[in-house]
Order: sequence, then structure tokens, then C-alpha cells
Amino acid sequence: MNTRTIAFANQKGGVGKTTTAVSVAACLAELGKRTLLVDLDPQANATSALGLQKLEGGSVYQALLGGAELAASIQPTGIENLSMIPSEVDLAVAEVDVARAENYLHRFRLALQPIHDSGQFDIIVVDCPPSLGILTMNALAAADRVVVPIQCEYFALEGLAVIMRVIQQIHDSGANPGLELSGIVMTMFDGRTNLAQQVLEEVKKHFGPKLYKMSIPRTVRLAEAPSFGKPITKYDPSSYAAWAYRQLTEEILEREAPRPAEPIVPASA
Ligand SMILES: Nc1ncnc2c1ncn2[C@@H]1O[C@H](COP(=O)(O)OP(=O)(O)OP(=O)(O)O)[C@@H](O)[C@H]1O
Ligand SMILES: [Mg+2]
Repeated sequence: MNTRTIAFANQKGGVGKTTTAVSVAACLAELGKRTLLVDLDPQANATSALGLQKLEGGSVYQALLGGAELAASIQPTGIENLSMIPSEVDLAVAEVDVARAENYLHRFRLALQPIHDSGQFDIIVVDCPPSLGILTMNALAAADRVVVPIQCEYFALEGLAVIMRVIQQIHDSGANPGLELSGIVMTMFDGRTNLAQQVLEEVKKHFGPKLYKMSIPRTVRLAEAPSFGKPITKYDPSSYAAWAYRQLTEEILEREAPRPAEPIVPASA
């Protein structure tokens, strides 16, 4: 299998992008997939969540501008099969610098190319910042699939329409014809509330099978894990949250599998 790139994106802040990207990356590693997590957010939350240092010059920033090899920024995480490219504050400047560079939408794709070619990873997981700025756009232009985490709240649907339009545009404009929505995942889900149920039904109605079957529960274990620098699979491996992320990871992988060719003659004919 070629290296696959999956971006975790939603322009809305605090919806569970980082928690989901870090947890899914850890679950992929647990399954034996050679996984690279790229922190593309200047907030560097994914970097701290895995207990890595924010080193000046250690992020994707220089490589985005063509000044360094991206592979040189790959760090081990102490977790088998899981490596990471950390973030740092300087990445915020990249929004401005990259916007002025030639080919500004494809800088990340170009920087990733040698890592793809080396074949050293099965999957690259990208944690995006909460905006539709240059960094997120670069992630979408480089990705094969997008996972959109949403929080179960009333305004979730409005935000969802925006990111769906952007994914469609990146696909249709030719910026990345290979880009597809993998799915939408509900995070911080509390099935006891009517609101959570209503939002779930609404998303199901609009997006049907694109909504993953597994919703991620709201649990303090997920909120605590980053302060220990560990993903949930290491912090509390037998928790319901770890199980939920393992289920979600299986669904994401199923959607990566090559689909059987459509029958030329429909079965009903
Ligand atoms: N399922 C969950 N249960 C409880 N707390 C959660 C859960 N998922 C995320 N959180 C907490 O909610 C906050 C926001 O989550 P997270 O950082 O993953 O969102 P984000 O979309 O990456 O945010 P940002 O847009 O700022 O990058 C964090 O404090 C996180 O620990
Ligand atoms: Mg985040």
C-alpha cells in the first residue's frame, strides 16, 4: 500500500480535532501501521499531548518554505510504530510566509513527497489548526482523506457546511482531485442529552453513511491524557474512550481499503 495521508480538519475550534488525530494515530500504531503524526497547528497541542518538546526550527515551517528536508524533523514518540513532526510557535508565521510563496497551496504536499517516496510510513495523520487558512488548505491539498470531527452542539451543522464546501472546492478545482471525505465523527458525545441525539439525527439525515457509526464519548480520561503526555491507548488502555477510538480507527481503515469494482451488470438486472 502507498503511504496514505489523512487530515483531521474543522475550522471550528475545540471540537476534538487534536484529541481525535492523536488517538487515531496511536490506535493505528497499535495495529502495527507505521504512523507519522504531523502537528500542523501553531498551538502545538498534539505535540504536547505526546510529551514532545516544541523545538525552534523543529516543525514543518522551514520545509514549507523549501529551506529544509521535512524528514529531518521526524521525532520518535516512545510509542512503537508512532513518529511525529512537532509544531512550534513559529509555524504561525508560516501562514504569512507561505501565502507569499509560489505554489502556496502545494508546499506541504511537496515537502511530504520524499517521505512518501521513502515508503517508511503506512499512514500520515495531520492535525490541522482551527481555521481555513493556508496551513489547513495545504493539509487538504496534500491529503487523500479528511476526517471531520464535530462536537454535538447546535452550531456544529453550520460549521460543517463550510468545511464540506471547501473540501468540494479543493477536489473540484483540481488543487487535489484525489481528496475525499472519509467521514464525520461526533466527539464529546453524551447520549443522555436530547441535544446530542438531535444533532446526531440531523447529521445522519444530511450525511448518511459519511457519519461514522462510532461516536466518541465525553469523558474526563480523554481530557486528562494530554497532561501525562500520553495518548488514551497508553494512558488508560482499557477505558471505553480507548475502545471507542479503536472502533473509529477500524472504520477509518475500512474506508481506506480499495473498494470492490462496481459490477458491470447490476445484481438486480
Ligand atoms: N471526548 C472528549 N471528552 C472530554 N474532553 C474532551 C474530549 N475530546 C476533547 N476533549 C477536550 O476538549 C478540548 C478541545 O479538544 P481538542 O484540543 O481535541 O480540540 P481541537 O478541535 O483540536 O481544538 P483547536 O481547534 O483549539 O485545535 C481539550 O481540552 C480536550 O482535552
Ligand atoms: Mg487542536
